[in-house]
Order: sequence, then structure tokens, then C-alpha cells
Amino acid sequence: MTREDRPASVMPLRPSRQSKLWGVIVNLTENGPSVVIRPMRRDDVAATVALALATPLWQRHGGTPAALTARLEEGLAASAAIWVADAPATPEVSQIAGFVWYVVRGAFQRSGYVMLLGVADQYRRQGIGRMLMAHAEARLFAEADDIFLLVSDFNTPAQRFYRQLGYAQIGAIPDYITPGVAELIFRKRQFRQGRPHEQSFGTAERTTRGGKP
Ligand SMILES: CC(C)(COP(=O)(O)OP(=O)(O)OC[C@H]1O[C@@H](n2cnc3c(N)ncnc32)[C@H](O)[C@@H]1OP(=O)(O)O)[C@@H](O)C(=O)NCCC(=O)NCCS
Repeated sequence: MTREDRPASVMPLRPSRQSKLWGVIVNLTENGPSVVIRPMRRDDVAATVALALATPLWQRHGGTPAALTARLEEGLAASAAIWVADAPATPEVSQIAGFVWYVVRGAFQRSGYVMLLGVADQYRRQGIGRMLMAHAEARLFAEADDIFLLVSDFNTPAQRFYRQLGYAQIGAIPDYITPGVAELIFRKRQFRQGRPHEQSFGTAERTTRGGKP
């Protein structure tokens, strides 16, 4: 399935009902404005860069429009999993309200990794970050039982957001992205009944590599 073929998710703000499909979360639309979670397109890049660089987080890490534009365009060219939340700006026009970039087995070539997440200031605390993470988690937990992400030590609102979603800090990397700033390692586990989630290598290999039993 190509990026364009994949189904989008149509969601109301603060959805009350959810059903899981392969790789996406669909919230059944009720009354009121809806948010569409869909793959990022090339013509979304400028709006996404503007959204991201308007936040103190990216400013503090010294992000530049040119660098983030290049990073997103390279990601799109490589079919990376970059999804946006399209929200109504007016009844006729929608705009990018947020985005998430995640990598299947992007942590230690084994576990899911949420690399970037942002919601535009005017759309915060309306459930859009949660929707973007629900989409990413549906895809990542289909492949592995753990998701990892990094959050800066000064970014306490995002830490509260992730804790609310079930993530816990399991470590810290000092001076990793910016000198003087530690990146906190957050992890969320999925517990399944029965066997642990099957990894991509076989039983014999797993034994010799000392992988998850
Ligand atoms: C972190 C971020 C993505 C959250 O997005 P959001 O759409 O505002 O989050 P939601 O509305 O889905 O919040 C879900 C829950 O998380 C918690 N939460 C979210 N933002 C919070 C904040 N600023 N302070 C405390 N708790 C917060 C709340 O419990 C919230 O539920 P509630 O509104 O019913 O109380 C957004 O604030 C953002 O883009 N920040 C700047 C960029 C950033 O920090 N990205 C993460 C980098 S690791």
C-alpha cells in the first residue's frame, strides 16, 4: 500500500468512540468539527515547519526553517511515516494543526520510536496530540511491544502529556541534542495475553542473541 492509498482517519475533537483498524484509529464522527489524520504531503511541509518552529521547544534546540524543511522533505522522499492532523480553520478551509513522525523498529532496530510530535499552539488541549499518538501507537504496537521517545528535561508540559498517555521515564541522556539539556528517555509497554509479541528473528537466533525470551 502506498502512502496515498492508506486510509485517513476522520475524528471529531475530543472523540468519544474509537475503533481500531490496521495501522489507524478511526473515531466515528459525531457533531462538530472533525480532524483528519492523514499522511503528510509535500505541500504540507511549509505549514508544518512554521508550526514547529513557532514553539519554544524547537527554538531552544536551535532549529532552523531550512534544516527542518530538508529533514521533512528527505523523510517524505524516503516514505517515512509522517502524518498530519488537518483541522478546520473555517467551515471551508482546513489547516495543519499538528504532526507526528514515527519509525517502526526505530529504537534499537527492535521497538517503536516516536521521533517528532507537535501541535500548533491554537489547537492545544483539544485532544489532537492524543489523536496523533493514538495513530502512531496503533502502527507501532502492531509491530513491537515497546515504544520509546525522547523528551527534553525542560519540556515539562510534554512530559505531563506523555505520562498521561502511559509513558514513563526510564533514563536520561545528558547533552545529547543541545549542550546543558538532558533528553529523558520515555517508554511505553504493551502487555499482551499469552506469548510476548513475535520479533523478526527466529527462536534459535533469539537464543544466541539473548533477545527477549
Ligand atoms: C505536547 C503536545 C504535543 C500536546 O499536544 P495537545 O494536542 O495539546 O495534547 P492533548 O490535548 O491531546 O492532551 C492530552 C492530555 O495530555 C495532558 N497535557 C497535554 N498538554 C499538557 C500541558 N501543557 N500541561 C499539562 N498536561 C498536558 C493533559 O492531561 C491532556 O488532557 P486534558 O486536556 O483532558 O487535561 C503539545 O503541547 C506540543 O506540541 N508542544 C510543543 C512541542 C512538543 O513539546 N512536542 C513534544 C516533543 S517530545
